[in-house]
This record gives sequence, structure tokens and C-alpha cells, in this order.
Amino acid sequence: MGSEKRLAIGADHAAYHMKEELKLFLKELGYECVDFGTHSAEAVDYPDIVFPVARAVASGEVPRAIVLCGTGIGSAMVANKVPGVRASLCHDTFSAKHARAHNDANVLAMGARVIGMGLACEIVREWLAAEFEGGRHARRVDKIVRLEEQLFTVEARRGPTSPPRAKEHPPRENQEG
Ligand code: RB5
Repeated sequence: MGSEKRLAIGADHAAYHMKEELKLFLKELGYECVDFGTHSAEAVDYPDIVFPVARAVASGEVPRAIVLCGTGIGSAMVANKVPGVRASLCHDTFSAKHARAHNDANVLAMGARVIGMGLACEIVREWLAAEFEGGRHARRVDKIVRLEEQLFTVEARRGPTSPPRAKEHPPRENQEG
């Protein structure tokens, strides 16, 4: 099987069922999935799943990946922290097609609490079928790559920083997990 037909996939508990169904759909499309978990509906933290998926793309282990959580937002945020990853949060087919055609997105993020399975499959189909158009878009994507090179060199020189931490906020009632 050509490496182009390999995909990494990962989801937190909120999207566990969507991940399992998407794996079946991807198999029908002829894709081999490398499943990074989670493997049940028990609550997990999406960064723990998505970061290894994004690393697999950045290292070239797989050419592309799909990451899923409740909204897709946290997954996209985490994936985009990894240099070389261009993650796109898509909940419509137009965005999915253009994420590949214009932005050369190598990670697709979706939210299982936002869209249903039918639309998720159509988004995946469009995203996988589309090809990067290059040309003026290549110039723009190259600028993203240059920004990463500059930023990560500066960050590496500066050393560890201490950004505001989410865990300083007390939990509220009615947590969904
Ligand atoms: C989990 O409750 C939820 O916060 C997570 O799946 C995701 O939506 C985060 O962006």
C-alpha cells in the first residue's frame, strides 16, 4: 500500500464513536489507519492523544492525519503547535476542499459534538480527494514555514516560558467530561 494511503487518526472520549465509524469509512476508501486512540468512551485529555498524532505527521511517519474531539477546536490548537503541521478545523465540505487546495493542510480536525457522521464522512472524502494547487498558494504556505523557522528558533533561544495556565481556573458545575 502506498504511503499516500496511510492516515493517522486520534480522538478523545467525546469523539471516540466518530473515530471508530470513520475508520470503517476510511477502510472503504482504501486507507490504512494508524489509530492513536482513545480506545473507549472514558474521559481523556485531548492533548495527550492529538500531540502524538501531530508528531507522526511532522516526522513523516504518515502524510496526513485526522484528529477529533467534542468541538475539534482543542484538537486543532494542539496539532498546530507542532512545527510542520497545518491543521484545519472543518465542518463543511467547501472548507475541507480548500484546506487542501489552498493551505496544503496535512491534518483535518472535526468536532463530534458539532456535526453528524454523514457530514463528517463527506468532509473527509472532499479533504482526501483535493490536491494542493501550488502556485501563489505555495508562496503563502512557504511563508508559514518561514514563520515557524523564525519563531521556533527564537523560542528555543529564549528557553522555557510560563504562559497563563488553564488549571488556575476553578472547575464549574455540569462538566461533560
Ligand atoms: C471534552 O469535554 C471537550 O472539551 C473536548 O472534546 C473538546 O471539545 C475540546 O476542544
